[in-house]
Amino acid sequence: MSHKIPFKIRRFDPLKDKKTYFQEYIVDVEMYDTVLDGLIKIRNETDSTLAFRMSCKSGICGSCAMRINGRARLACKTKIEDIYKNFSEIKIEPLGNLNVIKDLVVDMNTFYAEMEKTEPWLKKSNPIGKYENKIPPKENIKMEKSGECVWCGACFSDCPSREAENSYMGPAAGVMAHRFIFDPRDKDKENRLKNVVDNNIWLCAHCEKATENCPQKIDPQDLISQIREESIKYGLTKHLGARHVLAINKSIKTYGEISESRLPVWTLGPFGVIKEIKTAYRLIIKRKFPPLKLKRIHDFEDIKKLYLKNPDAGN
Ligand code: SF4
Ligand code: FES
Repeated sequence: MSHKIPFKIRRFDPLKDKKTYFQEYIVDVEMYDTVLDGLIKIRNETDSTLAFRMSCKSGICGSCAMRINGRARLACKTKIEDIYKNFSEIKIEPLGNLNVIKDLVVDMNTFYAEMEKTEPWLKKSNPIGKYENKIPPKENIKMEKSGECVWCGACFSDCPSREAENSYMGPAAGVMAHRFIFDPRDKDKENRLKNVVDNNIWLCAHCEKATENCPQKIDPQDLISQIREESIKYGLTKHLGARHVLAINKSIKTYGEISESRLPVWTLGPFGVIKEIKTAYRLIIKRKFPPLKLKRIHDFEDIKKLYLKNPDAGN
């Protein structure tokens, strides 16, 4: 049985509009239809001026990514029923962190540029045709997930770190970098790691948005953590983020807990910490300065055993 469902769509035509606005359409659809089915119906039957991208209709090409009721998703993989039961309308907007060309069509070039910075192709591997480049199954598992990215941009769209700082490559580029950093056939791992550190992989705030949005269930956040860990193993520890992780690690190894008073010194270094003197002064005045003297926690020996079992823990 079909239902009349309100579709509220953010519209913008650069040739005639100064600002974006919402336009509402009542669409006759089945509840099992997808949001993309609804959009196609509007374009075919009601308003042929509505612009959106689509191609495969099966979650493979990544072109129908858009914000649906506040979250970036693939319209062809989103059932009307699943949205309607929570929101009682389908609200559609273009992807975020990208410029709008028309209606739901965004300029993906910014996103592609970040992906291309990771040089997503094999480098310095054995010449093609000379002999086979087999990947042992144990190694293949490491890059299985990152190889499934469909370049849809749903993670990039809602990434608050990218919104705040466009020198951060974004979660999808992290996924793409992971794909080649952990490929045993590639012989440029160290430069790849330097490249992601230079493109601010440490600015990922671990907010979980990318993981929540990814239609391929890739978990970009976890892959980014793996890259960071690998970069530390390769001695790339100049970035503030890496130094902070090492400082936390040192604190736990020394005291069994995080020492709020030691962390700034260990992270910023003695000269860097001078810049924070005003903050320290304010904390002292407000009696909020953390204790300088720290004792090891009661269960310190248990923590030590954990570190001995896994020497890389915390990196
Ligand atoms: S990581 Fe997931 S959400 Fe991000 S571009 Fe790839 S498939 Fe899309
Ligand atoms: S149309 Fe290809 S992923 Fe949706």
